Amino acid sequence: MSAPAPRNILVTSALPYANAPLHLGHVLEQIQTDIWVRFQKSRGHHCLYVCADDAHGTAIMLAAEKLGISPEDHIGAIHALHQQDSAGFLIDFANFHSTHSPENRRWSEEIYNRLKANQHIAKRKITQAFDPEKNLFLADRFIRGTCPRCKAQDQYGDNCEACGATYSPSELIDPVSALSGATPTERESTHFFFKLPAFENVLRQWIGSGTLQSQVANKLKEWMEAGLQEWDISRDAPYFGFEIPDEPEKYFYVWLDAPIGYIASFQNYCDRTGHPFDAYWQVGHDTELYHFIGKDIVNFHGLFWPAMLHSANLRTPTGVFAHGFLTVNGTKMSKSRGTFILASTYLDHLNPEYLRYYFATKLSSSVDDMDLNLEDFVQRVNSDIVGKVVNIASRCAGFLRKGYNNRLSKTLPEKTLWQDFVTAGDAIATLYEHRNYNKAMRDIMALADKANQYINDRKPWALAKQEGTEEDVHAICSAAINFFRILMIYLKPVLPAMAEKSEAYLNCALDWTELGTPLVDHGLAEFKPLMSRVDIKAVTAMVEASKEAQVTATEPSAAPKDSADTPSCIAYDDFAKIDLRVAEIVAAESIDGADKLLRLTLNLGDAGDNRQVFAGIKAAYAPEDLIGKLTVVVANLAPRKMRFGVSEGMVLAAGPGDQDIFLVEPHAGAAPGMAVK
Ligand code: 2FM
Ligand code: ZN
Repeated sequence: MSAPAPRNILVTSALPYANAPLHLGHVLEQIQTDIWVRFQKSRGHHCLYVCADDAHGTAIMLAAEKLGISPEDHIGAIHALHQQDSAGFLIDFANFHSTHSPENRRWSEEIYNRLKANQHIAKRKITQAFDPEKNLFLADRFIRGTCPRCKAQDQYGDNCEACGATYSPSELIDPVSALSGATPTERESTHFFFKLPAFENVLRQWIGSGTLQSQVANKLKEWMEAGLQEWDISRDAPYFGFEIPDEPEKYFYVWLDAPIGYIASFQNYCDRTGHPFDAYWQVGHDTELYHFIGKDIVNFHGLFWPAMLHSANLRTPTGVFAHGFLTVNGTKMSKSRGTFILASTYLDHLNPEYLRYYFATKLSSSVDDMDLNLEDFVQRVNSDIVGKVVNIASRCAGFLRKGYNNRLSKTLPEKTLWQDFVTAGDAIATLYEHRNYNKAMRDIMALADKANQYINDRKPWALAKQEGTEEDVHAICSAAINFFRILMIYLKPVLPAMAEKSEAYLNCALDWTELGTPLVDHGLAEFKPLMSRVDIKAVTAMVEASKEAQVTATEPSAAPKDSADTPSCIAYDDFAKIDLRVAEIVAAESIDGADKLLRLTLNLGDAGDNRQVFAGIKAAYAPEDLIGKLTVVVANLAPRKMRFGVSEGMVLAAGPGDQDIFLVEPHAGAAPGMAVK
């Protein structure tokens, strides 16, 4: 049977907002996508995974303003952090770009112009919520109020988290500005709309085409039944985004140019590498396009996006794959419980492949939520990967090295059993293809059990003590190593680093395309440990560090995706109450059990006015380098009891985090105790 023709596939995952570091919810989605992409590549297909930062919108503009930096600098710093976090989890992006890029501007303008030329853009005046205190039109997410459909309280201005309804902010009941708390007034302004209702038939066909998961298709159908509305795609200045061509002071709404960021990232990749672009985005090609997303954004990917693409005469996705939310220990990720875990905090303590495997055992094609139970996590990884898979190789490696010069037998032993292992690959491949990784992992572990059972039954360690059994021991170990090789081919999409170490040991590539070729009369390299056990202490330390991040004055914003847009503002009068003082650091020390905190003793001028303050700057400063430095402290903060003692103030620092945290240092002429104006 000849191998199927290689497919040309383009894959994306949702673009993370460029205003906070990644947390394990983002990591879940990137791992789900990355496993799928690596699986396709292993099968011999051409598959590219592109992503980008979602860099526009009011939230990012306000966050930068609060930090006193430009939005460009803010998104630049976050971009670097995101890349580092994804690389830490072995996410194999072909390109990680930004929606604030020339390619995205070009494509956003191009698509808008096409929609306009097709008369799919409407322009009309609307009355819009306006914050009379901030003098700003209020973006949807900065208005909170009661959902007009289900009456749930405290919902965002554009969609309801309780019932999933989407609406315009003016429909909210009892709205308040999240920026100032003021009741918004109404003001007129011209807006631009995408005529979504014109696509009713197109969308009905798309929803019924089997492209979408049934749960997603049902949800979209519900929304269709409720009636499609024109979609407001413009925002008034001031806004961080792209100005609409020929419409001064009017900007594309962030959600207009966000999915176009998929095209832009790919365009950037093609421009850099010479890879063909058109075959992936123009209609009429046999390339495939898949979007991995969270279930909270199916309206954008299931309605607006295909309709826009259709109008712009670009291809629509082959599939949109939505996943559920991540819970930790059975509940929503919680900062106080230490289960709101940043990608970087995880990586400070644990091997990324532990989580890749654990998520694989949980992920399926459904949109159900998934739980990361930390005890189960330790147990599952240790039992499956270390206890079952690694065990097969490590049990045999010693015999092969000592007795057989690390060379496998000249013919393949246990052909029937070996064939069973190979044949099982068909079902496993189908499970991967349909994103039922959980079942694929179960099948693979059942094979690992079989391999271990085989070794247990044949007892090479007992045979090795007898005379004249050299060939048997060689055959058993050679068979087992071939089983191990097949298991690692199946696991390589999930465990790429362990697969790389296994490739070095086995002295061969672990690609699915090589599955049917056993290793015979083949030299192995030295066996090196492939994966160590998860240490429960490291998990506890990670949870503690996640709690610590909450009491650390200098920690960068770690808001979850859904709250990242909610700015907190203080009135000027409140700000004026803050007593900022120059302080001298007279002592600094590390704290046992705290990964990020230092205990500082600050002198505020008067002899004896020494304060103890905890600051999360350990990654950035060695304690001894701090002594004698001047910094700025909030001197009238109420003392706070922390895990390691009472903190009597807060030092000011800035930066994205870790090594890049910079204490605010006053001018050299300053002296302890001076007020900072
Ligand atoms: O929900 C989010 O986090 C968005 N930043 C996702 C954008 S995905 C795509 F459309 F760009
Ligand atoms: Zn509702």
